[in-house]
Amino acid sequence: MCGIVGYIGPREAYPIIITGLKRQEYRGYDSTGIALINENGLEVFKKKGKVAELELSLLGKPVNAHIGIGHTRWATHGEPSDVNAHPHKSNNEKLAIIHNGIIENYAQLKSELIKKGYSFKSETDTEVLVNFIEDIQKNTQSSLEEAVRIALKRVSGAYVILLLDEDNPDTIIAARKGSPLVIGIGKDEHFLGSDATPMLEYTKEVVYVNDYEIAIIKAGELILKNLGNERQMPYISKLDIELAAIEKGGYDHFMLKEIYEQPTTIYDCLRGRLDAEKGTITMKGIQDHIEALIHAPRYIIIACGTSWHAALEAEYIIEELCRIPVEVEYASEFRYRNPIINKGDVIIAVSQSGETADTLVAIEKAKEQGAFIFGIVNVVGSSISRASHAGAYTHAGPEIGVASTKAFTAQLAVLMMIALKIAKEKGTIENSRYMELLVELENIPEKVDAILKNGDLLKPIAEKYKDAGNALYLGRGYNFPIALEGALKLKEISYIHAEGYPAAEMKHGPIALVDKNLPVVFVATKDEYHAKIVSNIQEIKARKGKVIAIITEGDDLIPSMADDVFAVPTANEIIAPLLSVVPLQLLSYYIGVAKGCDVDKPRNLAKSVTVE
Ligand code: F6R
Repeated sequence: MCGIVGYIGPREAYPIIITGLKRQEYRGYDSTGIALINENGLEVFKKKGKVAELELSLLGKPVNAHIGIGHTRWATHGEPSDVNAHPHKSNNEKLAIIHNGIIENYAQLKSELIKKGYSFKSETDTEVLVNFIEDIQKNTQSSLEEAVRIALKRVSGAYVILLLDEDNPDTIIAARKGSPLVIGIGKDEHFLGSDATPMLEYTKEVVYVNDYEIAIIKAGELILKNLGNERQMPYISKLDIELAAIEKGGYDHFMLKEIYEQPTTIYDCLRGRLDAEKGTITMKGIQDHIEALIHAPRYIIIACGTSWHAALEAEYIIEELCRIPVEVEYASEFRYRNPIINKGDVIIAVSQSGETADTLVAIEKAKEQGAFIFGIVNVVGSSISRASHAGAYTHAGPEIGVASTKAFTAQLAVLMMIALKIAKEKGTIENSRYMELLVELENIPEKVDAILKNGDLLKPIAEKYKDAGNALYLGRGYNFPIALEGALKLKEISYIHAEGYPAAEMKHGPIALVDKNLPVVFVATKDEYHAKIVSNIQEIKARKGKVIAIITEGDDLIPSMADDVFAVPTANEIIAPLLSVVPLQLLSYYIGVAKGCDVDKPRNLAKSVTVE
């Protein structure tokens, strides 16, 4: 959470930082600020609200500079306000800092500093850190770089920090532990970001800074050191994202664009891997570790949020096809209990951003216990991808809308391919079923496209239910994780309270909620439980609930009892979740829009949850 941007070089820093911050807003957007060094010295401008509001307030202000840092905030310590916004200056007004992460021992450091006479304007942990650095500088007469190193050795928690020093106007100091930091390398200039989006139009050469590294960045020089003051060789990676991938491309919102991109993103995810004609799935990360994967006594899949729903879907599929026991864990729970990891167990981490703090720490803990980690990640070069022993990228491209859509379907596609490949290698799937599922999977992009062509049919349904206070999402078997995902999408985008349940569990409690005002969304595509879900629909109708059903084309039973239906093309029940989730994404989107919500930036949320 929180986006950071920096620039040093011959260009004007301000427009680069503002544009970069707008691209990083998915990481947090409750307040914004920038610090620049120009002929007036160190200038800090900051404000509660989104980047555009700060930009407006700075019209006509002295923002010319060739060095600067900027921050878009997701509040952790202290409410969103002008004062709590970053950057924070040190008491001597010489240093300005921006920070993404949490300094866990800030309270203790703060009381030590207060005893020494330091005062604080904000409630943030970040202002404590900058004053702690100033204090070390003062007491040890050391350089800023050295003071940062000493400070970071005493700090616990996660951070990316960027620091400007009025007395060293040609240098940005950056450091990372646990939160992401990318440095773009240009000719006599450097760009900094929480991801690579602020630098896309300027350079394709980037360095992903590692944990416990400090970067000393001048226009024409990048020095990386570890906390032991030893030089590290920057490893330069090539970016393969184009600018168009992070623009709205004519859509009203990123979320809608990303929903409509799914035929392409699923295709990209399958491309080069799945060949239904030859009956092959080529995934190097799987092939290189096939023995470990086939013989694993158990898989533990760890993830958060939407990625956790993809993991749950994978549990059903892997157990069915590979006959390997699977446990699905919330990363946040896994990391804080004392999980039993047996010899040979495989940990699969699923994450769009590859930066989710809980997932990252959970895999580090599992690694300490000797587990083999397989990462399924969207963002290339992200922390989880680098912390995994092997993995598969989802190739969904940058996902900017805070609510995950195309990343989810790409995760499902990757997990389905993995299950099929392992089942085939292990001999737990009959060839005819394997070949049939490969063809089904290959046909998915076309079927998603067909759903999207009917997407407008969901608009009147959204209009009808937009004022509901609650909603229930029900599904069985492979459709249960999709019910959970549908409910999550609705609550985050429209702020309507929604719960997903296994349809049969309804009778064990949630049915008490059903009345004429409660919309109940059934994920009721044709599968072996179809007759059972039909009974569940009748139970809701008998209590006057409103039923919206996602059905399979050609189903003429459910339309006779549901209030509203949306049909998706026929598909094998294992593959069908890739289809049934799409109308649920659109339904949430249209309800959110009908309610006037900011669907790309829902309140209180941030896309990349880099704090626990
Ligand atoms: C929901 C959503 C979140 C993320 C969760 C995990 O739409 O986007 O629930 O799925 O924060 O994030 P990643 O997948 O980046 O680890």
